[in-house]
Amino acid sequence: MKVTQIRENFLKFFESKGHQVVSSSPVVPGDDPTLLFTNAGMNQFKDVFLGFDKRPYTRATTAQKCIRAGGKHNDLDNVGYTARHHTFFEMLGNFSFGDYFKRDAISYAWELLTTVYKLPADKLWVTVYAEDDEAYDIWAKEVGVPTERIIRIGDNKGARYASDNFWMMGDTGPCGPCTEIFYDHGEDIPGGPPGSPEEDGDRYIEIWNNVFMQFNRDEDGVMHPLPKPSVDTGMGLERIAAVLQHVHSNYEIDLFVNLLAAAKSAVDGAGAGNCDANSPSLKVIADHIRACSFTVTDGVIPGNAGRGYVLRRITRRAIRHGYKLGARAPFFHKLVSALVKEMGDAYPELKANEARVTEVLKQEEERFFQTISNGMEILEAALAGSSKVIDGETAFKLHDTFGFPLDLTADVCRERGVTVDEAGFEVAMNRQRDQARAAGKFKMAQGLEYAGAPTVFHGYDTLNQESAKVLALYVDGSQVPSVKAGDNAVIVLDNTPFYAESGGQVGDAGELRNTTSLFDVEDTLKIQADVFGHHGQVLEGEIKVGDQLNAKVNAERRARTIRHHSATHLMHKALREVLGAHVQQKGSLVDPDKTRFDFTHTAPMTAEQIAQVEQLVNAEILANAAASAKVMSLDDAQKTGAMMLFGEKYGETVRVLEIGSSKELCGGTHVQRTGDIGIFKILAESGVAAGIRRVEAIAGDRALSYLQKLDTQINQLAASLKATPSDLAQRITQLQDHARSLEKELERLGSKLAASQGDELVSKAVEVNGIRILAAQLEGADAKVLRETLDQLKNKLKSAAIVLASVQDGKVQLAAGVTADAVGKVKAGDLVNHVAQQVGGKGGGKPDMAMAGGTDPKRLVAALNSVQAWVTERL
Ligand code: ALA
Repeated sequence: MKVTQIRENFLKFFESKGHQVVSSSPVVPGDDPTLLFTNAGMNQFKDVFLGFDKRPYTRATTAQKCIRAGGKHNDLDNVGYTARHHTFFEMLGNFSFGDYFKRDAISYAWELLTTVYKLPADKLWVTVYAEDDEAYDIWAKEVGVPTERIIRIGDNKGARYASDNFWMMGDTGPCGPCTEIFYDHGEDIPGGPPGSPEEDGDRYIEIWNNVFMQFNRDEDGVMHPLPKPSVDTGMGLERIAAVLQHVHSNYEIDLFVNLLAAAKSAVDGAGAGNCDANSPSLKVIADHIRACSFTVTDGVIPGNAGRGYVLRRITRRAIRHGYKLGARAPFFHKLVSALVKEMGDAYPELKANEARVTEVLKQEEERFFQTISNGMEILEAALAGSSKVIDGETAFKLHDTFGFPLDLTADVCRERGVTVDEAGFEVAMNRQRDQARAAGKFKMAQGLEYAGAPTVFHGYDTLNQESAKVLALYVDGSQVPSVKAGDNAVIVLDNTPFYAESGGQVGDAGELRNTTSLFDVEDTLKIQADVFGHHGQVLEGEIKVGDQLNAKVNAERRARTIRHHSATHLMHKALREVLGAHVQQKGSLVDPDKTRFDFTHTAPMTAEQIAQVEQLVNAEILANAAASAKVMSLDDAQKTGAMMLFGEKYGETVRVLEIGSSKELCGGTHVQRTGDIGIFKILAESGVAAGIRRVEAIAGDRALSYLQKLDTQINQLAASLKATPSDLAQRITQLQDHARSLEKELERLGSKLAASQGDELVSKAVEVNGIRILAAQLEGADAKVLRETLDQLKNKLKSAAIVLASVQDGKVQLAAGVTADAVGKVKAGDLVNHVAQQVGGKGGGKPDMAMAGGTDPKRLVAALNSVQAWVTERL
């Protein structure tokens, strides 16, 4: 039974049992910053189990894309070493949300395995949580599994509920006891039954885990009962496929056979020649192309932190295995098309992103291929000694200078029975971090020390604050009791309407004043998270700590800034709609003049895509929807589906900003209604780094003046070309055609003119010893005309030595020609150089024809006059 059939049979079986077939969620969990990657089928139902979310069904079944390469469930280090571990795999699952429980879950599993998949019952073993008598009895008494094949497993991992038979999604979240079903691959394969010391072998393979979800574990490890006992199951598609295809390794199933062949051919083509088809490295590559392709498809790009770094580690590990086999050029990205062939029908998003995924992986490969060979040389040198441990300094250098993630170095070492001094690596890493921090501290020392009360920010609701009290004053980085007119200073207030730069939005400007003093605020920056520094200059009077000031934000500047900020949210949403859900914010800058937004996407946007984004944003503006901001717990915010950035540190309470169809966590200031933005226009789109694009756009009066300026320019252009703006393009084409025909005409006339000049010149030649010598200047001739005229003159004069010159744009052009009968005495090259030297140039060519240039037209006449004597001497 092929993988496709196995997947389909599973879903059909559970559909026939009243389950809703639900699509796989992305491998990047949309709204769960606690989770690195989707690691189980139940992830997308987490809130349903917890009772926060309701679905129109109580039974569901999925084939879920999963990645276990970091976080609580991490199989990366096992890939290539066992027959059953993957970084990416598919999990087939059935779920009950407060519907059926243990009895039905067990009997469905048994029915599917023994009747649909027709597995021999005596090959199946089961484990139950040691305390779960109920599950034990169902297996033993109702299903009839002989008790010698039912194994109880307790808390075997060193803590309460830490057990192979107690499943938790992560450190927090839904969890419960489970029962696992194992398949015995037979006595030829080494390994023992679950719970035995040899259980890690490949003989008894866990194929299906049925979890009885009963608790929600909180941050303190306390187990709270779920509203309703539920079921979450997961069967590894690759493992059941191995069983059903009678092979003992996941890598021998149909899907992998094709991927392995593609991996071999790509590696061979990249310099390996003919690598060993059975090499474990090919398995690693075939595994990793799945993890990498699906991760990129769902919006991750290789980077130095978070998910991006996991992707980079997996990609580089694959590349290193290719390198080991002999590949010396990028090969990995070439496997994407083979993968799309295998899995593109089941996961259409993979097919849709094929070109982009290929490009992202190619760029990462090209980058790593620049350093891998030098890095490998250093590593090889370190491994050449007899030591069984690679020192931390070397591992760190490989990491820091050559881009070798620690696990990649460890992987190479493991192949040689050597370990890495990870503690030493950490020491080196920390030393570098400390150095960086020390550099940062130096900056802090130049910054401002503050130990007083925080600033309360009122700027979401008002731009004016009466009687704000001065809490601290700084001049040249030091606290001072007072400042006077002319001083550049920083002022801390107890209350302020001024927004301090953060989240990409620039700080406010404006003024602080009372009856005697005036302070011009140029910028507002945070001194600490909740202490705002107003930077600027005292224009009038004196300001002392304790004084009261009226704070007034420059309303026009703020209005421009918030238009750009709100427009950015709408644009972010529109980009995801037009380009795909892989678009993620990578940086932004919002100020009164523009918004600049960086996001993940590999290809330049087309003109149509840009226009589409503009249309979507402007449609939202015209809809004039009200914006709203709500402060809530991070948990609640996640439930609203608000967009949040992975890796960003959010506090316990966050602000959810809803505007038009966009919903994002944001602490910035925004317009009240989308209509306040006015108009939105994209100015430019460009690439800033591998896989990252940048859009610059403007809104409101900025956009209006931009459009007006364009309009004026077009009108002026049209007027100067005596056209209307609408037929400007046609007029320009006409003019271009006209110019082209004039150029042709000019060329024709030039040749004609030169030819007629040539006729006149014949009479100017002076005959010496049977050779006619001629040196003359042609008006307005270019090199081509000089050459043509020279040929004509040679024909006409029969026996001759000729130099022709012209001056164009302050430069001298020379051509010399000598007829065949005279080249024995005078060489055209020598002749042309004789003249060229005198006008500051040089040239060369054949004995009968040579060209040269010169820079000094003033001396041309004299130079030409010298020709006759020079030639005569040689005759
Ligand atoms: N969520 C369970 C697992 O991943 C089924 O094993």
